[in-house]
Amino acid sequence: MARRKKLYEGKAKILYEGPEPGTLVQYFKDDATAFNAQKKDVIEGKGVLNNRLSEFFMNGLSQIGVPTHFLKRINMREQLIRSVEIIPLEVIVRNYAAGTLSERLGLEEGTLLPRPIVEFCLKDDNLGDPLVAEEHIIAFGWATQQDLDDMVALALRVNDFMSGCMLAVGIRLVDFKIEIGRVWEGDFQRLIVADEISPDSCRLWDIETGKKLDKDVFRRDLGNLADAYTEVARRLGVLPTNATHAVKPTLIN
Ligand code: TYD
Repeated sequence: MARRKKLYEGKAKILYEGPEPGTLVQYFKDDATAFNAQKKDVIEGKGVLNNRLSEFFMNGLSQIGVPTHFLKRINMREQLIRSVEIIPLEVIVRNYAAGTLSERLGLEEGTLLPRPIVEFCLKDDNLGDPLVAEEHIIAFGWATQQDLDDMVALALRVNDFMSGCMLAVGIRLVDFKIEIGRVWEGDFQRLIVADEISPDSCRLWDIETGKKLDKDVFRRDLGNLADAYTEVARRLGVLPTNATHAVKPTLIN
């Protein structure tokens, strides 16, 4: 069988050429990184869990009319996606203060924000993904004003959907990051949700206990990351309810 062409390898995923033009295969690795890859580890089963969780969220978004790049899951670690032109911005939505917002503004972690706040960071690892203002984005041509309006609208719809999903299973969606891509349909372009939506790019806290169920478990050495993600997947019904410990990748497909 011909080997697939690897197009890009990132910190947590690999992109391969897809079977048809306009498609890609997205492979989820077990690698975990934090602090701009200064901290690294391999967490057995993380890729399998994120593949399943991202499928779950992207499918749910499609069902409520939010366009995404997700086409179908192929196997434990791979999904077929639409090829997009990634907008070079990380779009962050925050409901409660945490992380860099808490540090920047001196807000106690967990403070409810007056309303959801959307922030943009430039996707540039060499610069450490700096926070940028809309002025910078327009002036440097990373996106247009129309793109920005569309990105904020998409991000807030994702926030409503994700907050609801999580609230229903006793989890607070503190904040999250998405990436957005441009697709062309004839002469028209539109923006769709791309990359992944998983506990790697969200802050998820148990509503009752405040227990962290996201990548902060790894960033801050709070326990077993795969166990935390398994807990999220189990509560959402993505895994059988009796799976209380990190699933071995061979157990689910
Ligand atoms: P933030 O608090 O700005 O940064 P950090 O995670 O370094 O404390 O992050 C807000 C949310 O966005 C958090 O859930 C992590 C996520 N995020 C990413 O997944 N990748 C990124 O590159 C950035 C900047 C944020």
